[in-house]
Amino acid sequence: MNKTIISPSILSADFANLEQEITAVQNAGANWIHIDVMDGHFVPNITIGIPVVKSLRQVTDLTLDTHLMIENPEKYIKAFAEAGSDIITFHYEACKSNQHIYDTISMIKDFGLKAGLSIKPATTPDKIYDFLDKIDLILVMTVEPGFGGQEFIHECALKIPKIKENAPQNLIIQVDGGINNLTGKICKSLGANSLAAGSYIYKSKDYQKAVSSLL
Ligand code: DX5
Ligand code: ZN
Repeated sequence: MNKTIISPSILSADFANLEQEITAVQNAGANWIHIDVMDGHFVPNITIGIPVVKSLRQVTDLTLDTHLMIENPEKYIKAFAEAGSDIITFHYEACKSNQHIYDTISMIKDFGLKAGLSIKPATTPDKIYDFLDKIDLILVMTVEPGFGGQEFIHECALKIPKIKENAPQNLIIQVDGGINNLTGKICKSLGANSLAAGSYIYKSKDYQKAVSSLL
């Protein structure tokens, strides 16, 4: 049976107490920590970056699932790898050409990390079929990247079965944006096996209950 990988997004966590927030979701059964990196160019928001990944690496053994919402991702792969990321996911839309995508995947792999590719709501799945056998994870955004707490866009989830049809069996299919127990269930039934969830977990009173409800 395929296990669902739960990756709480610390974007909605208490930034003044990140270590406790990570320990709390770890104790609640989370598998990964989803780290949203935004540059104010690719998306209209600025969040956290390399030094935060480095500090989190000191306090957790959980997989650091790094979601780069930045332009020129290739310029920062080395720094995130050295900071301790385990997975680096970058955006299809941040790349100028197919070659740019292949090269960025290779850079990530050369550091021994898992490579992820993400698509925004307007990007059709056929655009990324060529890359599916080169990556470890595809991230289907179910909101417009940039902010936590937005409403799930159902149409985006319909990309999941199309991707699954064209993907190697071991590809991790992650969704991100507006995930809660109901939308998570829809995504899982369509073939997703990893859920990134920010506000649903971190704005809840009971992290354990929230994480369990996504499984
Ligand atoms: C949005 C980020 C998400 C965000 C999700 O651009 O990529 O990871 O934290 O937040 P929720 O789960 O609140 O929609
Ligand atoms: Zn994210």
